[in-house]
Amino acid sequence: MEGVLNPDVVKMTDHDFNKISQFIYSRYGIKMPANKKTLLESRLQKRLKTTSFSTFKDYLNYLFTPQGQLVELIPMVNAVTTNKTDFFRGPDHFELLANTLVPEFIARKIHSLKVWSAGCSTGEEPYTMAMTLSECKTLHPTLNFSILGTDLSSDVLQRATRAVYSEDNIADIPLAMRRKYLLQSKVRQDRKVRIVPTLRERVVFERLNLMDEHYKTGFNFHVIFCRNVLIYFDRATQERVINKLLTKLEKGGYLFIGHSESLTQMNLPVQHVKATVFRKL
Ligand SMILES: C[S@@+](CC[C@H](N)C(=O)[O-])C[C@H]1O[C@@H](n2cnc3c(N)ncnc32)[C@H](O)[C@@H]1O
Repeated sequence: MEGVLNPDVVKMTDHDFNKISQFIYSRYGIKMPANKKTLLESRLQKRLKTTSFSTFKDYLNYLFTPQGQLVELIPMVNAVTTNKTDFFRGPDHFELLANTLVPEFIARKIHSLKVWSAGCSTGEEPYTMAMTLSECKTLHPTLNFSILGTDLSSDVLQRATRAVYSEDNIADIPLAMRRKYLLQSKVRQDRKVRIVPTLRERVVFERLNLMDEHYKTGFNFHVIFCRNVLIYFDRATQERVINKLLTKLEKGGYLFIGHSESLTQMNLPVQHVKATVFRKL
């Protein structure tokens, strides 16, 4: 019997778990093996509370109605995604971008870089790109750049657009860059910072499901970061997503994946640059 008295302890039956996990996998690519049941249950319990359903069965029945698909789908996905990120995560990627790739693009007479952070979460990755590329302008004054940040979760995109971070978030930003690119709150007790407008205006955020048939990003990119996103997909989905991302990468452009991810044994039009960096052929 499903718990009905206290929403905090509502349990998800195996049947409900199979139904929702298969839906999440087929629509968003996120794999949900049986060992994720407790995690999914606890994340969706919050949605049960908000929507006032007392069982997962009722919640899922609602979710799959036309009204539920319209109103509850996005909040459900927001609750389900894992959004851990950091400024300057995988710092060697930003070093490679600044010290090797930017000089190479400039030498190839590409002065206006289009960069995509696919699976950008709360914005730390695209803003790190923006800081890195801004620093490059000292050595390469002709450099211009624009950055697209996309994610499945509308919650994280909202936070990314606000660009407000706590003191704990910024520890990995070098001090000189903190001074240049972060605004301190005027309220002394509020230890929050905001990315400066000159960087914010370089970054545009949009909701995009990497499982979509076509990516409506408008143009092609010189650099794509898709880091720590593939880990949530199975191998076949990873290969499909990477192939689609590559259709949006310029020839001679670069793809970065996360340090725990790999593209080995995939049939892709890329040349290996280093462990997690690839150049489109
Ligand atoms: C762990 S975060 C990684 C953030 C950042 N790239 C980094 O490396 O720090 C993974 C992000 O991928 C997003 N994501 C998961 N599945 C997705 C999909 N099908 N389409 C777009 N984004 C997805 C999640 O919402 C989450 O914000």
